Amino acid sequence: MAIVCKSAAEIDKMRRSGHIVRQVLDHVRSLVKPGVTTMDLERAAEKKIKELGAKPAFKGYYDYPCVLCTSVNEEIVHGIPSERRVLREGDIISVDCGVVLDGYYGDAAITVPVGNGVKPELKKLLEVTEASLYRGIEQARVGNSIGDVGAAVQEHVEAAGFSVVREFVGHGIGTRLHEEPQVPNFGNRGHGARLREGMVLAIEPMVNYGKPDARVLGDKWTAVTVDGSFSAHFEHCVAVTKDGPVILTQ
Ligand code: MF3
Ligand code: CO
Repeated sequence: MAIVCKSAAEIDKMRRSGHIVRQVLDHVRSLVKPGVTTMDLERAAEKKIKELGAKPAFKGYYDYPCVLCTSVNEEIVHGIPSERRVLREGDIISVDCGVVLDGYYGDAAITVPVGNGVKPELKKLLEVTEASLYRGIEQARVGNSIGDVGAAVQEHVEAAGFSVVREFVGHGIGTRLHEEPQVPNFGNRGHGARLREGMVLAIEPMVNYGKPDARVLGDKWTAVTVDGSFSAHFEHCVAVTKDGPVILTQ
């Protein structure tokens, strides 16, 4: 399958799905505190998605069981909400949400500190990861390449002494959750597919405090750091337009 470019009308629809994802994430963020379970967040998100008139994108996708991915501490991505996972002061939690509205997908993620006791070096991990996302977004311009996006993310992360995960990547998005091209958080400037007007990319740096290596747990979903260090994840959907990058998940 080739890379699908979207018309202005399609990008408008994606802005609507993106806006719903943002409202769900804002709601979930407001609920994150010590004592809450990741299943509490899942239930709140499912209710919110329904209220806003959209459908969850992850539930049922390759048999994934939930509307959110909730990845705590050394979990990188694809943590499955659970009644048994109680958030504690000092944890960090990545929340990833996707929805579909009127045939078009939106997908975004945030990482949130739990309580006020998160160590300063972990706060820095969150700040650097989010800033690296914006470095990548800045490169999502007509005539640039996929490698320009990845290189910008990687350089920002590594300059801070953290590492980017290689096993999972961002993706094109539109009438399917995952479209071409893959969008790695590493790469070489000028390499990879050329960006054209109307492409929509889900850019999603996954950044480890320690070494980059990842493995998947026995539940077949939860990706964790091999060295046990904590990991952060931020994601936006971004349209490549003739006026520059436009974030659809605001
Ligand atoms: N944002 C993630 C992604 O783009 C979440 C997918 S979880 C899944 O891959 F359950 F839907 F697979
Ligand atoms: Co994604």
